Amino acid sequence: MNDKQSRYKEVLQQAKALADTDAIAYMANVAALLHAYFSFWWVGFYRVKAATLVLGPFQGPLACTRIAYGKGVCGTAWKNKQTIVVPDVEEFEGHIACSALSKSEIVVPLLQNQEVKAVLDIDSEQLDAFDKEDVYYLEQLSAIMTQHICFDKD
Ligand code: SME
Repeated sequence: MNDKQSRYKEVLQQAKALADTDAIAYMANVAALLHAYFSFWWVGFYRVKAATLVLGPFQGPLACTRIAYGKGVCGTAWKNKQTIVVPDVEEFEGHIACSALSKSEIVVPLLQNQEVKAVLDIDSEQLDAFDKEDVYYLEQLSAIMTQHICFDKD
């Protein structure tokens, strides 16, 4: 098991232990957890609210507060209902640059009843920072979170 795998396994274990039905509370702790384990440049969530993505709990520099359906990497992951890995943000047409220092990005949707309720967005200052392993573990993290959060109560 490599270092990244073992850190992700600990993150998943802790995410299970931190499970909360409240979206904001749970997302806040998971953002802190991922930041503590990986020192990502920016890690956080956008929630689907009234047909827009609205900034949720995050760790890192200030970020844009609203993203439309189909826009940017986050809005595209929402539209496609699929994880997107962007090795070089300058190559992604329509990428929304919240920070000029962000070079690569991964966005993982949180799905409940086949509907995207939120997205997990992680930015790195390094090019090509995310691979199949990140997809695998972050999708597991998304599944753990959606098993517990009651989005419809928000
Ligand atoms: N880059 C994202 C916007 C959010 S920030 O990275 C925090 C996008 O293109 O959707």
